[in-house]
Amino acid sequence: MLNQNKMVRSKTKKAKPASSKRTSIRRRTQKNNRSISRKGKQITPKQKLTLYLNEALSIENIGVQRLQSRIKQTKIENVKQQLQLHLEETRGQQDRLKQLISDLGGGKVAATKDKAQLPIPTPPKSLAKIAGKIMTPAELELKGAKEDAVVEKSEIILYDMLIRMAHLMKVEEAISVLTQNLSEERSMADWIKINTPEMITQLWPEIEASVVMSEEEEQQLR
Ligand SMILES: [Fe+2]
Repeated sequence: MLNQNKMVRSKTKKAKPASSKRTSIRRRTQKNNRSISRKGKQITPKQKLTLYLNEALSIENIGVQRLQSRIKQTKIENVKQQLQLHLEETRGQQDRLKQLISDLGGGKVAATKDKAQLPIPTPPKSLAKIAGKIMTPAELELKGAKEDAVVEKSEIILYDMLIRMAHLMKVEEAISVLTQNLSEERSMADWIKINTPEMITQLWPEIEASVVMSEEEEQQLR
């Protein structure tokens, strides 16, 4: 009898129409939403945007640290100067973000001092070991420049998305700060793109000297 009952129940379950399943999912979602709001976790657009802005600030915080070490590392004078200029711009970006976070949070939200992880791909250990042994200082310069480009491009994506979100959230007071930060990231990324061919040409003799070429390859290069 018990088994029969089970069978009946399972048959009823299988026979449940799709629309009724959808209704029950909707009810569950509504119930979850209600429980979130009961716990006081409802969040205003400004509060949500403040979280995003703090994330952007943590990226600029690590950006400052990275730019400082890149300025020390590079031997190419015009790269050093451009990185120095962007360091000053990045400090301005930090200040604007901090001010905006304070304004939107009514002075109650702390601007983060924490640093994000750099968005730089790390090669597998096996390759990094070999590359580390054969890399010339010129190639290290190129590696740094490549990483500069990746960092700036990722910041462009970040600000581009944030501006769209701020528009949709109708937090208009954030737009001018985000737009200024975006335009500085764009001009830095453009500078890297324009300067890269010339930099590679400048570094090439050192890289060329580090590899042994066959006679045929040398003739092709002449
Ligand atoms: Fe930047």
